[in-house]
Amino acid sequence: MLEVKNLSKTFNSPGGNVTALKDVNISIKTGEFASIIGNSGSGKSTLLSMLGALDTPTSGTIMVDDKDISKLSSKKQTVYRAKKIGFVFQQYNLIPNLSALENVMLALEFGGVSARKRKGKAEQLLNEVGIKPDEMLRKPYKLSGGQQQRVSIARALANHPSIILADEPTGNLDSETGKKIFDLLHSLSRSENTTILAVTHDMDIAGKTDRTFKLKDGKIIT
Ligand SMILES: Nc1ncnc2c1ncn2[C@@H]1O[C@H](COP(=O)(O)OP(=O)(O)OP(=O)(O)O)[C@@H](O)[C@H]1O
Ligand SMILES: [Mg+2]
Repeated sequence: MLEVKNLSKTFNSPGGNVTALKDVNISIKTGEFASIIGNSGSGKSTLLSMLGALDTPTSGTIMVDDKDISKLSSKKQTVYRAKKIGFVFQQYNLIPNLSALENVMLALEFGGVSARKRKGKAEQLLNEVGIKPDEMLRKPYKLSGGQQQRVSIARALANHPSIILADEPTGNLDSETGKKIFDLLHSLSRSENTTILAVTHDMDIAGKTDRTFKLKDGKIIT
């Protein structure tokens, strides 16, 4: 169970304060596949970073299995991220000097997978998201945006996270590949009881998730 209560986030920047989230309340059951929609700047990425403990709220609580993750020490937040969360970033965030394969292997290393098993497991994950063997050996700059996104999805799945936070996971993919990735996420939420929260602009995709939250100017409107 993921329960967000009265969550607000204000960024203090030199040009003035920006309130990115205002009194957000949502709850998502374990194993549920939910989507977030909303215009550019409505606070979608900000909400995901709070849920993934990448940033701390200005006020409010984020209960994950009855623990408020926003109140954890930074050391415990790191453990929470490594053990529980798979993050698919809007900008992929792959490590530029590592190949696709090595990017996924590194995530497996952080997750405590033995050195012997990492390569085979990484190949299997990359294969599942449609990355071909020769592409696995390339560094991110030699891959298309969609291919990089698929590598970042494989990396997010590596350690069987209980929550996947995905920021536009299919935004850079053609509709057929996007649908495959979506189906993969969907089957995960079913077979592994993974809670998934995905930002999307694609109304077809949003329509197929268990629940859709709409953000407008930092507020949930549906
Ligand atoms: N670190 C920051 N400092 C100041 N303002 C920020 C910061 N991060 C985000 N914002 C502002 O907060 C608001 C919400 O941003 P956010 O990135 O969450 O939007 P979004 O819904 O993900 O948009 P998009 O669809 O374009 O990705 C925007 O007005 C943005 O400019
Ligand atoms: Mg965003």
